[in-house]
Amino acid sequence: MKGDREIIKLLNSLLANELSSAHQYLHHAEVADDWDYDKLRKHFQKRASDELKHAESLVYRIQSLRGKPITSGLQMTDTTDPRQRREATKIKADAIKAYNNAIIIGPDVSQQLANEHLSKKDAIKAYSEGISLCNDRKDFATRDIFRSILEDEDRHIDQIEEMQEQISQMTIGAFLRTQV
Ligand SMILES: [Fe+2]
Repeated sequence: MKGDREIIKLLNSLLANELSSAHQYLHHAEVADDWDYDKLRKHFQKRASDELKHAESLVYRIQSLRGKPITSGLQMTDTTDPRQRREATKIKADAIKAYNNAIIIGPDVSQQLANEHLSKKDAIKAYSEGISLCNDRKDFATRDIFRSILEDEDRHIDQIEEMQEQISQMTIGAFLRTQV
């Protein structure tokens, strides 16, 4: 079935976000591995694999709508550099379309979780808006894919918030001792 042009464009924008998100998680997993936080590494790796599954379902949907999946053009931001971090945070906060797929790497676990939280909030907003667009255009199959991904994103943000809550209750040092 030939798809609505705007929906294909949205699917590609969401695909870029999913791929960026997967890369961001993989980088955080690598850092956790360097620091010997094995539990945290597994957490980030599992999240990366979930994001790749989301990306895969978007690619299939774009193809079934006879669109062309765009999988290149990811950008990297090193958040150990304060200038880049300020800029990247502003980019995320403003959700500037051209920088929608920036990867933000946190210099410590608290910042990594804050970055993941920001990415999840953006994703939840984007999928919610996507569901409305699909309802308007009567593309119910795409809407159901968005709904299913949205449920995962909701679960992910809950897990991040749980970890952030643990950090605030037991301090970052005590939390990290639970992650080896
Ligand atoms: Fe996702």
